[in-house]
Amino acid sequence: MAPTSFYIQALPLLSGLVFAADYPGIPTDLTTPVQQRIAFKGPNAISVGWNTYEKLAQGCVQYGKSATSLTSQACSTQSLTYGTSRTWANSVTLSGLDAATTYYYKIVSTNSTVNHFMTARTPGDKTSFNVDVVIDLGVYGQDGYTTSRKRDIPYVQPALNHTTIGALARTIDSYDFVLHPGDFAYADDWYLTPKNVLDGKNAYAAILENFFDQLAPVAGRKPYMASPGNHEAACTEIPYTTGLCPEGQKNFTDFMTRFNGLMPTAFPSQSRNATAQASAKKAQGLANPPFWYSFEYGMAHIVMIDTETDFPSAPDGQGGSAGLGAGPFGSTPTQQLQFLDADLASVDRTITPWLIVAGHRPWYSTGDSKNICGPCQTAFEPLFYKYGVDLGVFGHVHNSQRFNPVYNNVADSAGLNNPKAPAYIIAGGAGNIEGLSAVGANYSTNVFAYADEFSYASLKFKDANNLQIDFMRSDTGEVLDSSVLYKQHNVAFVRN
Ligand SMILES: *[C@@H]1O[C@H](CO)[C@@H](O)[C@H](O)[C@H]1NC(C)=O
Ligand SMILES: *[C@@H]1O[C@H](CO)[C@@H](O)[C@H](O)[C@H]1NC(C)=O
Ligand SMILES: *[C@@H]1O[C@H](CO)[C@@H](O)[C@H](O)[C@H]1NC(C)=O
Ligand SMILES: *[C@@H]1O[C@H](CO)[C@@H](O)[C@H](O)[C@H]1NC(C)=O
Ligand SMILES: *[C@@H]1O[C@H](CO)[C@@H](O)[C@H](O)[C@H]1NC(C)=O
Repeated sequence: MAPTSFYIQALPLLSGLVFAADYPGIPTDLTTPVQQRIAFKGPNAISVGWNTYEKLAQGCVQYGKSATSLTSQACSTQSLTYGTSRTWANSVTLSGLDAATTYYYKIVSTNSTVNHFMTARTPGDKTSFNVDVVIDLGVYGQDGYTTSRKRDIPYVQPALNHTTIGALARTIDSYDFVLHPGDFAYADDWYLTPKNVLDGKNAYAAILENFFDQLAPVAGRKPYMASPGNHEAACTEIPYTTGLCPEGQKNFTDFMTRFNGLMPTAFPSQSRNATAQASAKKAQGLANPPFWYSFEYGMAHIVMIDTETDFPSAPDGQGGSAGLGAGPFGSTPTQQLQFLDADLASVDRTITPWLIVAGHRPWYSTGDSKNICGPCQTAFEPLFYKYGVDLGVFGHVHNSQRFNPVYNNVADSAGLNNPKAPAYIIAGGAGNIEGLSAVGANYSTNVFAYADEFSYASLKFKDANNLQIDFMRSDTGEVLDSSVLYKQHNVAFVRN
């Protein structure tokens, strides 16, 4: 969201402050991996991403099934940067892995350690599993939110155990992977800290470095599935900072560089149905990671969409309502929607009964009507309904919300008991420098809304018919809301 009023409040504080970006220290050994992150690159592949403070001629990862026997190695010569970055983004794909198996890995460096991950469960595996959802997360510390005051930003030492990242780290064995559809570091909010106003270039880079270092204990262990939000877009959320805009901040540049090569396109269909196979293949060709793509994990097919650009009147696109003028990223204006249509059409519910779509901006939300993305609803909601999406996962509004199944603003009379319409959640209360959004007025089928403290969501896939959705308070772990969506899933290819 755009914190215009806060910027104006901050301006009088400018005088008499020291201007210095809060950069993390550069390791002496420039091959030291930082900002580690991994993702499901395919049914039998994991991608490993990390940054270094020098360009690597070749980045390599050693791996194996035992920590003391890393017998395989994969390498890549991709080491990317952009004008205002101090680091290079490296990525390597580890292929031919066994499903649902723990592997140990070490990014090759004269200064690195062994970590481990678990590969995806085979599509069709009906073992229960949990997925955590964090959106609108934000850096913690001097240039981000703090535990004591959410908008005043005094300096406190980062102590991640107070935060949502801390909660994910503390509970790392309780979930299999993380969905994060948009708004990562809030690096574009550098101007909210008065000392940064004359040093946007360094402040922007420093916030990104700090945030992705903070996230590494989580994202280097659990596949961290990313898609874009408005805070990855550009500088012009506040018009008069445009002249100070660091080169690398424009047009999703850091997001594209950082996640380049890490996210999948779409997995090959495991269905026996030739139409479904052809549809999945088509989706693979139309996918455009890290903006829009899909993957499968056991009994779930999960689609990540781009609510920012690449559909009619997209808010961050050329001429869009946010005035960010970003994108387009597809080679045609309809590529994303064609992808979504083909991808959803390919889903065989006898293999992956659960169909989840995650994106940044919601079209159901409590509070101010500016929270709603009308063009998103027009573009995406009919496809969600047609193909029987079970759950829509969104953020952008800085709080936690849950909606009973709804289509076209009308509640599905079945409620949580085998509805045709998708249920929706907003998990945007993870915490960031802009603070929480008040719950505000009730809207549509909202049944839970919470904005007292930072919080996040957990999707617990119990079996082919029951999906438990929990919201947790980040600092205490208290369960704030718990519900179970029941779906019969007795039709292989849903068409409503
Ligand atoms: C080695 O890496 C650690 C962090 O993983 C860092 O704190 C340390 O400074 C690095 N050492 C050198 C010599 O760069
Ligand atoms: C966070 O860590 C500090 C230092 O280890 C500890 O004193 C504090 O109790 C922890 N807080 C929480 C919420 O776990
Ligand atoms: C194959 O899937 C299509 C939908 O993609 C469906 O219309 C058709 O009935 C299916 N064929 C069989 C033999 O199940
Ligand atoms: C943003 O980047 C995409 C992909 O590189 C490019 O096609 C598009 O023209 C860029 N948009 C702007 C406004 O620079
Ligand atoms: C919103 O309104 C609906 C319909 O009146 C009601 O069922 C629901 O409990 C309300 N939600 C909240 C969070 O108060």
